[in-house]
Amino acid sequence: MDVLAEATKRRQAGHAVISMAVGQPSHPTPKAALEAANAALGHGRIGYTDALGTSALRHTLAGHYRKRHGVEIDPVRIAITTGSSAGFNLAFLTLFDAGDSVAIARPGYPAYRNILAALGLDVVEVPVTAETHFTLTPESLEAAQAASGKRLKGVLLASPANPTGTVTGREGLKALADYCAANSIAFISDEIYHGLTFVGEETSALELTDEAIVINSFSKYYCMTGWRIGWMVLPERLARPIERVAQSLYISPPELSQIAALAALDAEVELDVYKESYRRNRDFLARRLPEIGLPLASPMDGAFYAYVDVSRFTNDSMVFAKRMLAEINVAATPGLDFDPLEGHRAMRFSYAGSNAEIEEAVERIAGWLK
Ligand SMILES: Cc1ncc(COP(=O)(O)O)c(C=O)c1O
Repeated sequence: MDVLAEATKRRQAGHAVISMAVGQPSHPTPKAALEAANAALGHGRIGYTDALGTSALRHTLAGHYRKRHGVEIDPVRIAITTGSSAGFNLAFLTLFDAGDSVAIARPGYPAYRNILAALGLDVVEVPVTAETHFTLTPESLEAAQAASGKRLKGVLLASPANPTGTVTGREGLKALADYCAANSIAFISDEIYHGLTFVGEETSALELTDEAIVINSFSKYYCMTGWRIGWMVLPERLARPIERVAQSLYISPPELSQIAALAALDAEVELDVYKESYRRNRDFLARRLPEIGLPLASPMDGAFYAYVDVSRFTNDSMVFAKRMLAEINVAATPGLDFDPLEGHRAMRFSYAGSNAEIEEAVERIAGWLK
């Protein structure tokens, strides 16, 4: 956030800042979603909806799982949320008690750690490395439990993952789901980067088990970060408890955003064009970053991030990020955000921007590193 604030300040002062710091698409909300929202605004009344969201959106999402993943989901198992961020709060509050241990990957999305800690939960950060194909495994979870001396109550995995870009395949996901079921551990699958898989298969945990808590969002593939709208798919027995907590915390997800999201689910043709532009950025970065001395620290198979090793140039990614911004007006995120132990040697570059911007940023970095 410090880098972002500085980038905004520099941009306002007239510098040509390119931001590869934020995990959000530079593309607009799909046309059909904007039209649906405009029409709704014309009617004038935007109100509360049911706490778990509109029946239209819940039914249409059930259809999305039938079409994309070949699974039948009863719409009563679907909860619409205020972004996936609200989904995490709801899941953690409903599933866990203070002091419970929950495992996440390191490096991983920093808000997991922060929300869990804020709720008084023990965060067990499990390192993901080349040895574990940059994902969690039953063995790495066992080792983490042995080291902490406490049994896990929950495991949270994102696939595709932020910042590593790891796509956990069907077998890996199944091994985790089975391990969690056998050990009475809640398995939370963050599928927010679904739709943005470039290498390998994109499996939903729902294809493997009815017990997973799946969290998803319209922020990334659907280009709707600012609409703050997401969803969860729950085991049926959790729908009512989640509804009670959701009603108290949020009353309902925003109605206008639900109307727009419903239309966005039909916008695949438009959105797949954007996905192709990320793919071009990805292929360019996969070739160019190692050439300029920034080897990839993880696979880049999905999402829109390149996580690179900067240890040839620095042992302090925060200083690296600040200098890069001050000297060549390129903003990116220090690895320390994602990995408090080893992130001083890494940086994350988001490639959700335009092709021209990404190429210009890399050429600036190449000249600077020389
Ligand atoms: C892995 C992951 N999960 C969840 C989120 C939160 O997204 P939102 O609340 O916009 O749905 C992000 C945002 O960057 C993310 O990277």
